Amino acid sequence: MKTVVTTAYRPTTKTIEEAARIADLLGCTAVERRKRTIEQIQEMEQADVVVAAKKRLEYYPVGTSDPFFFHPSSAAFRTKRQPEEDPFLEATGLSEGDSLLDCTLGIASDAIMAAVMAGSAGRVVGCESQPVIGLVVKEGLQRYEEVPRLCEAMQRIEVVLSDAVTYLQNCADGSFDIVYMDPMFSEAIGESSNFTPIRQAAVHGGLTEEWVTQAKRVAKRRVVLKAHFRSTDFEEFGFERKIRPNTKFHFGVIHLERGNVSER
Ligand SMILES: C[S@@+](CC[C@H](N)C(=O)[O-])C[C@H]1O[C@@H](n2cnc3c(N)ncnc32)[C@H](O)[C@@H]1O
Repeated sequence: MKTVVTTAYRPTTKTIEEAARIADLLGCTAVERRKRTIEQIQEMEQADVVVAAKKRLEYYPVGTSDPFFFHPSSAAFRTKRQPEEDPFLEATGLSEGDSLLDCTLGIASDAIMAAVMAGSAGRVVGCESQPVIGLVVKEGLQRYEEVPRLCEAMQRIEVVLSDAVTYLQNCADGSFDIVYMDPMFSEAIGESSNFTPIRQAAVHGGLTEEWVTQAKRVAKRRVVLKAHFRSTDFEEFGFERKIRPNTKFHFGVIHLERGNVSER
């Protein structure tokens, strides 16, 4: 499905320029709004629609009327809890100054947690292979101002619009403390409602041998996987599963401190 970019209902010179900039970044066409509804544009252009609104980008894949836009919703409440209560932080073992590669950025909830925990001495890079999701989140992380306590951390996240395996293949050995992956589950599990409009559009490929091999080469300390509790990926790819009773997803860890360098 192709994508077109348009403005909000009442365009201004600034939003017309913004739509052109976003279309350029996505390598697609900017179309005039001409007071059309989103459904009319989807129908007439046979395309998913991105709206370059004044404050944010909105993404309407065909068949959806509720937009996807960036909002740090779940990170906003997660960062209010104690770090030891967050299973992602526990599985990654992240601490101040650490670097983490998030292979599957999504709406960046985990990446924001990592950026807060690692602090300004740390580094968080997030890969997203669905280009519109990646761009909406990348722009959102830079522009979002409504939760001031998170802005500095959000702005430090480096978003890479790339497939994670391709990105990993170009990383040096041991260049991140932690490599993390949270691929799409085959079934919806009541994830953040922000994500619902893009569940279909997101990239659904599963974990592969090459992905895990590259992750083990690039990570210094841990490779961490989040997957559905019924997933057999933990055992298949050698992750130590952390059982969380009565939860729909588990984390798995490959510890690399224990002599992985000689295993490479
Ligand atoms: C379950 S979501 C990740 C949610 C994320 N952990 C968060 O906190 O918001 C998975 C995301 O990874 C993306 N994705 C899937 N496979 C990928 C790959 N090989 N490389 C990069 N991104 C990928 C999907 O498009 C989707 O946006």
